[in-house]
Amino acid sequence: MAKILTLLASNNTQSINRTLLNIASQKITGHTLTKVEVADHPMPMYGIDTEEQEGFPDTAKQLRDILAEHDAFIIASPEHNGAMPAVFKNTIDWLSRLANADNPIFGKKPVLLLSTSPGPNGGATNLKTLTQLMPWWGADMKGSYSLGSFYDTVIDGVLTQIHDQELTEIINDFVGGL
Ligand SMILES: Cc1cc2nc3c(=O)[nH]c(=O)nc-3n(C[C@H](O)[C@H](O)[C@H](O)COP(=O)(O)O)c2cc1C
Repeated sequence: MAKILTLLASNNTQSINRTLLNIASQKITGHTLTKVEVADHPMPMYGIDTEEQEGFPDTAKQLRDILAEHDAFIIASPEHNGAMPAVFKNTIDWLSRLANADNPIFGKKPVLLLSTSPGPNGGATNLKTLTQLMPWWGADMKGSYSLGSFYDTVIDGVLTQIHDQELTEIINDFVGGL
């Protein structure tokens, strides 16, 4: 039984990526699931001066410790202007300052990325970039899934059948490899 952490990289109270992450999480059985959101661990805007003058926020140390306690990660990230949201990049910047080559942010553990957006691209531009960046941060990248046109493909919280099958396969592949 693996300890899987789901991480929402959005601070939107009405996050559609949270909905996608919840749908994906419901497909996982036989493993322990923990849900964390970047908004649960608010951090000041990273700056070298801030780090030197104020040290590390407790929220960054807490999140580092939570990541270390888990075996695998499913991260759902929105796309903002073709990239990851600033709140997620800020979280990564703080975590990177607490990490080192032997203990990278994602601990050399398996990671699956998810993204959705109201538009047809489903955050795919950001997912492509994140897929390239995540190994720098110590992720063992296992795959990604982008869901376009969220409001046409998720009706009353339920994913339409063809997309649900796609997501089920992605989740089963990821979980089966743990
Ligand atoms: C500042 C900003 C930039 C955005 N840029 C993009 C974008 O580049 N690509 C995209 O597909 N959607 C973009 N969107 C729309 C988001 O996909 C949409 O707000 C979505 O709900 C974000 O996910 P969330 O609800 O999980 O936070 C942007 C939204 C905001 C607020």
